[in-house]
Amino acid sequence: MTTWTPDISSRSGPRYIAIAEAIAEAVTTGELAPGDRLPTHRDLADRLGVTVGTITRAYAEAIRRDLVSGEVGRGTFVKPSLMTFTPLSTRHDSEPDVFDFAVNLPAEGIATERLRDTLPVLTAHPHLGTLLGYPSDTDLDRAKRILASWAETQGAPNAPDRLIINNGAQNGMLAALLTLCRAGDTVLCDEFTYPGMKNLARLLGVRLQGLAMDDHGMTAEALEHAVLHHAPRAVYIVPNYQNPTGTVWPRDRRETLARLANRHGIWIIEDDVYGFLAEDFERLPPLAALAPERTIYLNSAAKCMAPGLRVGYMIGPVELLPALSAGVRLSTMTPAPLTLEVATRWIEDGTAVDSCRWHRAEARARRNLALKALDGFAVAGDTGTYHLWLTLPEPWRSDEFTRAARNRGIIVSAADHFVLGRRAAPPAVRLGLGGGKSRAKVEDGLNRLAEMLRGGPIGSFSSIF
Ligand SMILES: Cc1ncc(COP(=O)(O)O)c(C=O)c1O
Repeated sequence: MTTWTPDISSRSGPRYIAIAEAIAEAVTTGELAPGDRLPTHRDLADRLGVTVGTITRAYAEAIRRDLVSGEVGRGTFVKPSLMTFTPLSTRHDSEPDVFDFAVNLPAEGIATERLRDTLPVLTAHPHLGTLLGYPSDTDLDRAKRILASWAETQGAPNAPDRLIINNGAQNGMLAALLTLCRAGDTVLCDEFTYPGMKNLARLLGVRLQGLAMDDHGMTAEALEHAVLHHAPRAVYIVPNYQNPTGTVWPRDRRETLARLANRHGIWIIEDDVYGFLAEDFERLPPLAALAPERTIYLNSAAKCMAPGLRVGYMIGPVELLPALSAGVRLSTMTPAPLTLEVATRWIEDGTAVDSCRWHRAEARARRNLALKALDGFAVAGDTGTYHLWLTLPEPWRSDEFTRAARNRGIIVSAADHFVLGRRAAPPAVRLGLGGGKSRAKVEDGLNRLAEMLRGGPIGSFSSIF
């Protein structure tokens, strides 16, 4: 239970509305996270100096606004919100007894250390001030050439003329949907999909149709069937180390999608932010290489260098470039020259390659620790992935498990975050292995998780009858 105590002194109007509004604000800012249990009525009433009845009305108002849910005998819990983008950067892991497997970031890597070397070089630059202005076309052209050569290392075409710099893959997804879709259009995706795409589609009124997956991701049969029956405008695919299941899409399915896209005039939005985790010998061709005329390829520095750089890029078919550029300009104006300079320098001076190498080794080591600790449980996620998909043994349900784990300081993401619409979520959770500061801590957290899985739920009998 949280000891959350809102400051309602500056809010006008009835006290219960002020408290409900404070709940809404805390949910939006992430101060209250989905699954958090609110203080009891009496506790909060005492702390705010109001009556218990006021808190009851405030919580009822928050339930009416769909912010929280009340569970008889158990308390009031923050609900997953439509518009709450899980704050990906919130690492809880600095607290010694908290194990954060919800955060979906690579481990800290070498970026901070390298930034210490890079910043003084930038500071000494005679034209430092230009990094604080809007970037010039010449600067952008240079950066495009560097990013295009970087894209080539992922198997994507080296095509600076078709490359648009943006503020990360999420920004690229927005530009892609704005370019391709109108409200009501259908986009096909995996049945468990990246929440950033779910939220975006909902915002734009685009219908996401989730397709059945097997151990290797979306099946070719589901894809073929959906192309014929749903008249999709586009397919959104994360072919490498899919979020949340960690699967790598096999070559023949990539070829099937390329064929279908060409034959039926369907667009492909290929999100390759995790592609760098494959070793060269494992790398499969991206859709951008198999169907260049139908694919908007998205990638960024977020996972392979550092998410805070907010540097991303997309490579698109010529006919879509004006609309894609407009989508980026309208949403973020331009890339941020300061961080673009850092990212491009890192590509040129080898830091980016070193960083990828570091993460590939780290992800594999952490995955091995996880497979060992969770031996005997159903864990999915290909070699190289930083996140795993754990199907919970009977009788655990994902919401129940997530809450029980949180009470023991272990934070995991329930399957609910990744399913589409009102479909029932399977009993599964995503485990992000990059959140822990050290391998030892990750191992410790995984062992505790395994202990919980073996123990089963205790004392969670509902008093609803
Ligand atoms: C599949 C996927 N796409 C895109 C993103 C966001 O990338 P960026 O930080 O470059 O916007 C994430 C972040 O977790 C992700 O998992």
